Order: sequence, then structure tokens, then C-alpha cells
Amino acid sequence: MTAVLDTAPPPPRPGALPPLRLGALTVDPAVVLAPMAGITGPAFRTLCREFGAGLYVCEMITTRALVERNEKTLRMVRATTEEHDAFSVQLYGTDPATVGRAVEMLVDECVAGTRPAHVDLNFGCPVPKVTRKGGGSALPWRRRLFADIVAAAVRAARDVPVTVKTRIGIDPEHHTYLDAGRIAADAGAAAITLHGRTADQLYSGTADWSYISRLVEAVDIPVLGNGDVWEADDALRMVAETGCAGVVVGRGCLGRPWLFGDLAAAFAGSAQRALPTFGEVAAVMHRHATLLADEHGEAHGCADFRKHVAWYTKGFSVGSEVRRALAMVSSLDELAGLLARVEDQPYPTAVLGAPRGRTSSPRPVALPEGWLDDRDDPRPPAGAELEVSGG
Ligand SMILES: Cc1cc2nc3c(=O)[nH]c(=O)nc-3n(C[C@H](O)[C@H](O)[C@H](O)COP(=O)(O)O)c2cc1C
Repeated sequence: MTAVLDTAPPPPRPGALPPLRLGALTVDPAVVLAPMAGITGPAFRTLCREFGAGLYVCEMITTRALVERNEKTLRMVRATTEEHDAFSVQLYGTDPATVGRAVEMLVDECVAGTRPAHVDLNFGCPVPKVTRKGGGSALPWRRRLFADIVAAAVRAARDVPVTVKTRIGIDPEHHTYLDAGRIAADAGAAAITLHGRTADQLYSGTADWSYISRLVEAVDIPVLGNGDVWEADDALRMVAETGCAGVVVGRGCLGRPWLFGDLAAAFAGSAQRALPTFGEVAAVMHRHATLLADEHGEAHGCADFRKHVAWYTKGFSVGSEVRRALAMVSSLDELAGLLARVEDQPYPTAVLGAPRGRTSSPRPVALPEGWLDDRDDPRPPAGAELEVSGG
């Protein structure tokens, strides 16, 4: 099963997480692939979708670049053939007019080739070059500006549901999530995703899910929980502990797109979990690289695939020579040859539940001069949309 457009209310299923309704879009099960810059392009979304169910969000798209019809941006904002009814786009923007125009281009002009079924707005990015300009996780602090951006997106999206993705706040002294939730709901957002960390935590420590519970109690739109779902059972626990209406999964599926199969099984009440052998993982790796090669050409596709190698092979006994060669792979045949050199072996269960991907240390958040002084200043920050790429 996957995300489908439907106007009839879905039947409730006892014992399982009910399907998530975002306007006319039904997400069943309520499991979402988190937008990850440099990762959640068409190839990875296709792969995750083949394993599981839910909604798969495109890499973050900068609204300024989209409005300027930047070629690379127009190439990035592209649905796969299977996404005709469930194309999900994340936008980053700091100026209501630009965000509104970008949404119009997607929804009315269909610049992506496919009309999105869902638009998410990024207010969670903690990267210094973004927050220093007042963007990402710094922006909800300016609550009038935040309200104006969400309202502009909702207005331009018309029947397409708009959601907001954010963090707890800037740091422990400057929480924003409760205001952001209420403002987003008032502005017509269909749901809000909360990553249980503040921006200064980056990806350190553990996500504090208790803030997700507090947001669930404070707002009357669906809250999606995010942060540290490494296994399907973490997702079940997050739903049980917080009452969230769905889960958003990022790093847990790096090198493990089959996690979406586990998540679908878990929410259907099944205890079945995939423990692929190395041979099975090798087949997924080759498929992933082939999808990237189809998208970018063989040389670029294989170069892009290199960053996934360590995630796929984590815990397997691969041998240092093959591991090194895989990290520099430049053709699909070479990849197949290298993978064939590794002995088949069972899945290394020791890596289950272990963090993967970014795990950076905390760092004070860089902000524009005077950013914290006036929460109701509605002016967009200057130069905040340049050179932005995810986080
Ligand atoms: C490589 C990478 C890129 C990311 N890019 C984005 C992005 O473009 N937009 C966004 O909202 N979050 C981005 N994130 C944050 C994730 O969507 C997610 O909120 C975060 O990783 C916490 O969830 P997790 O613990 O399941 O990974 C990124 C995270 C990683 C690791």
C-alpha cells in the first residue's frame, strides 16, 4: 500500500495507527520518509517506496531558486513515475511572497511536471549558514513572519495540503514549537512534524519525544513525530508514548530502505522484520546504484552512490580492500564485481537500533544580529535564501 488520493474517509483499523489524512491525501500507514538533502532524490524515494508504504518527501527545494527557474533546482523537483498521485515536495523559504510564488508554480503551472499532492515547509534546518541568516530553525522565533510564510503557502496551494516541519526551538532558552504549532494550525497547515531536538543540539544526544506529546496536546492538527526512529519498534513506541498521528523517519533508513517494509508491517500489527543476508543487501545496493545511474548517468550516479556504501555495509564483514574499493566505485559492473567478492553472511544484528548518519556535537546557534529582540518583526531576513542546501 502507499499514499493515494481519495475523497472517502478510510475505514478505521483496530489496533493499528489510523491512516493519516492530509486534505485529500491519505497516507497509509502514516509513515513518512523525512526529507534529506543529498539523499531523498528520485532514486532513493523509488527504492524506499518499493519496500514499504507511506509518503516519501523530495529533497528540500529552495523557493528563491525555484522562482528564478534555476536549472538544477528544476531538475531536483521532479516526481518519479510512481509518484503521480503522491508527489511530496519540501520547500525552504524566508520570504512569504517568494514562498507563495514557488507554491503557485508547483501547483498551478506544474513546473515539476507533476502536480504535488503535498507541500512541506522546512523550519528545522540547524545549519549555521542558514540560521545565521534567520532561516530554517531560526525562523519560527519571528512568529509574524512565520505566520505570513505558512499563510502564503497555504493560500497558493489551494487544495494541496501544506505541512510544517520544525524543531523544539533554537536552544533550551528559546523554544518555538508550541507557538509554531498553534500559528501553523491557524494559518491552515494540514499537519506539523516535530523533531525532538533544539537547533543547538544539531544531531547530538537523543531526541526528546516528550515535546512531541506536548505538541499533540496543544494543537488540533495532526502532529508527526520525528527523531531517532532506528527500528520499526521505535516507531511503535513513539506513537504509544506521544500519541502522534504519524512518524517521520530519516537517518534510520540510510543504507536500509527495507526499514519501510518493517514499518509497514509493524503498523499492520505484524512482528515480521527484514534481516537481509549480504547477498540480498548487495542486490539492493546494485538496484540503488542503477537507479542513480538512470537518473544522473553512470559515472555521476556511481559517484553519488559512494556515500551510501558505508551505511549499507555497516557491521558486515566485507574486508578492508573491498570496502575501500566500494567507496571509490565508478561503474555498475565494477560494483557488481566487488559485491560478488564478499562472502554471503547473515545480517549483523549488532547494528540494529544503533544510530547512523549524522551524529554531530552540540553547538550554539548562529543568528542574525538582534534576531531574538523582536518576535513580531514581520520583515524577511536579508540574503537568507542564498546557497542553502538542506539540514
Ligand atoms: C543528510 C541529512 C539531510 C537532511 N536534510 C533535511 C532537509 O533538507 N530538510 C529537512 O527538513 N530536514 C533535513 N534533515 C533532517 C531530517 O529530515 C530529520 O528531521 C532528522 O534527521 C531527524 O530524524 P531522524 O532521527 O529520523 O534522522 C536532514 C538530515 C540528514 C541526516
